[in-house]
Amino acid sequence: MFEKDKLPNFGLEGSERLQKIISGAGLSSRRGAERLISQGRVAVNGCLVTQPGLKIDPKLAEITVDGCPLAPPQKLYYFMFHKPAGFLTTLADPQGRPTIKSFFDRLAVRVFPVGRLDMDVEGLLILTNDGPLAKRLMHPSSQVPKTYRVKVKGQPDEADLEKLRSGRLFLGDRVAAPAGAELIKTAQDRVWLALTLIEGRYHQVKRMCSAIGHPVLKLKRISYAGLTLGNLRREAIRSLTLAEIKILKAACSPKKRLSDP
Ligand code: URA
Repeated sequence: MFEKDKLPNFGLEGSERLQKIISGAGLSSRRGAERLISQGRVAVNGCLVTQPGLKIDPKLAEITVDGCPLAPPQKLYYFMFHKPAGFLTTLADPQGRPTIKSFFDRLAVRVFPVGRLDMDVEGLLILTNDGPLAKRLMHPSSQVPKTYRVKVKGQPDEADLEKLRSGRLFLGDRVAAPAGAELIKTAQDRVWLALTLIEGRYHQVKRMCSAIGHPVLKLKRISYAGLTLGNLRREAIRSLTLAEIKILKAACSPKKRLSDP
């Protein structure tokens, strides 16, 4: 369908696959871009292209989708946010409750949270506009580790912690995957635990602690996918370093999953 001489830098160095360029512009996922191409909705320098995989130099070619020029590549942003308790992890609430959106106004870019923390929970949230990465991080198969500092009622003993670690703790619908559970500190009538989960089901920490008879009094996420909250103060947002972005990507890469025991 296309004339090769109208396609600049065809297959040369510096060129990229057409579907990658389209998804990089934020129009769709890589798969979605492949579909747009095979549906005959993409043209390069006026020539219809129906084969995904074509390599072109985006700087030299004019790419259109349904006749509209493709936007320049979307710059990707990654932040760490210390969510305070008392805010919903959503960008808008029909009931008018406070949401974390109010903290994003100081950012010059539009980002969204990766996953959720309950309204009464504080701690580490990743914010990004990298949709494909966010999707991979949130996918259950990625088993991204999340660590919580949990204040619970009563005095759980070693047998209780074993239940959290066992992979046999029943939560009403199914069993919880094995979790890391360590005692941090004890006081009269309350104990602080470090709990590391590789799944993120609804109210998971609260349900696990209730299931061993020690309800949660306070919950804070201190680590996500190998990144730690450190001393980032409540309500603060900071950019991730390049090394941290790499850690985040490695935590949900298919290679990591294949090499896992
Ligand atoms: N587990 C919970 O119960 N709530 C959260 O917000 C996160 C994990």
